[in-house]
Amino acid sequence: MKLKSLIRTEKREAPPDEEHGYKMKRLVVKGARVLDPATGLDAKLNIIAMGGRFASIRPPHEDDNYEGAEWDVVEAEGLLVVPGLIDIHTHLREPGFEYKEDIESGAKAAAAGGFTTILCMANTEPVNDSASVTRLITKRAAAVSPIKVLPIGALTKGLEGRALSEMGELKDAGCVAFSDDGMPVKDPAIMRRALEYSTSLNLPVISHAEEPALTGGGVMNEGVVSTRMGLKGIPNASEDVMVARDIALAELTGARLHIAHVSTRGAVDLIRAAKARGAKVTCEAAPHHLTLDHGAVVGYDTFAKMSPPLRAEEDIAALHAALKDGTIDAIATDHAPHSSIEKDVEFDAAANGIVGLETALGLTLGLVGDGIISLAQAVTLLTSGPARAMGINSGTLKIGASADMTIIDPDMEWVVEPEKFLSKSRNTPYGGRAMKGRAIRTIVGGETVYEMSAEG
Ligand code: DOR
Ligand code: ZN
Repeated sequence: MKLKSLIRTEKREAPPDEEHGYKMKRLVVKGARVLDPATGLDAKLNIIAMGGRFASIRPPHEDDNYEGAEWDVVEAEGLLVVPGLIDIHTHLREPGFEYKEDIESGAKAAAAGGFTTILCMANTEPVNDSASVTRLITKRAAAVSPIKVLPIGALTKGLEGRALSEMGELKDAGCVAFSDDGMPVKDPAIMRRALEYSTSLNLPVISHAEEPALTGGGVMNEGVVSTRMGLKGIPNASEDVMVARDIALAELTGARLHIAHVSTRGAVDLIRAAKARGAKVTCEAAPHHLTLDHGAVVGYDTFAKMSPPLRAEEDIAALHAALKDGTIDAIATDHAPHSSIEKDVEFDAAANGIVGLETALGLTLGLVGDGIISLAQAVTLLTSGPARAMGINSGTLKIGASADMTIIDPDMEWVVEPEKFLSKSRNTPYGGRAMKGRAIRTIVGGETVYEMSAEG
């Protein structure tokens, strides 16, 4: 290497510093309805960000002057601005399955769905059970992701449920929670040890609650539809007994337990009772478990196959009640991209899961339109709720915090067109579904990372 190439010749850009005559970059989002349930904010306000952070949120005033090259002005009259959405359950598939999704495509799909932060699961190849894989993810995300990507480390080595991962090293490398999601932790003694370690690290453990002996070879919900279709069913009890076990272990150890993708009435009843006793238990529900029942499987549609499976109407009613009374802390996508290789096969052989990042907000606003939850509850479930469950310091419009926000057109009517997804995968049962309400601009650290184009 020539010496010259080691010498920096370009002029260094001076740091933004108002006192020395440099203008700091400023953003104003003007005239929107600003809704931040965590701080009780719901009014027509201007949001001002400086240097990538919230500087002030205040009523518009006639003396306001946002002229000048340093101002980035977003006219948002008639729109809704909320804290940047947070998805605590995505599968980004990198490393190992980049043909389904990679960090870049998944993060771009998330930005298009209105998300400014996502947490990605550990079931990659190799599994994220070592600091080197975690660093690979965070480095890659820093290079290609327009939004914040926070890794979840595996609870056990190789997701095999036998030996604990190096949880401390995973935390040091940047993991914000631990989970074997996709696989239940079969051995209760291993789960107990994992919960014990997690308390000293003060990070939550996310449980994929499924008793494998009861799931057996089941491929859909056990009930009238599975009987009619001749498919092997998975009983609600498969989820309920694991939720009961993990709550008991969380109470034994004092650990923070988060139950992923609850789908049954029994699970939410157990979680509600545990919360009432003061256990450190939180949970999430996925949009598909809130909006589709097992009837969607009729026709052997593999896009309706996921783990846990779509359940019966009475379960959906129980989940809706649990959203309403706060038992469910978060709506999380379980974004699970698969290609046609895994989905264009007979039902029994198809992979579990659907993509969710680009439909989650529309489906959640649909619950508001149907009178199931209020708009403020919907926003909580996608912002401060998930942030609190994971112990992440975001999800609210706080002065001084990173200026992450989502601008929503609450009246926009649109139809789900999977071929237009930014995700690499198309496995959704919602193709052709009419939605109302959509993220039209996503802002991270004061920078627009997604803006809806005229073609949608
Ligand atoms: O449907 C699912 N898909 N559920 C899981 O728990 C795992 C996920 C995946 O990784 O595809
Ligand atoms: Zn998952």
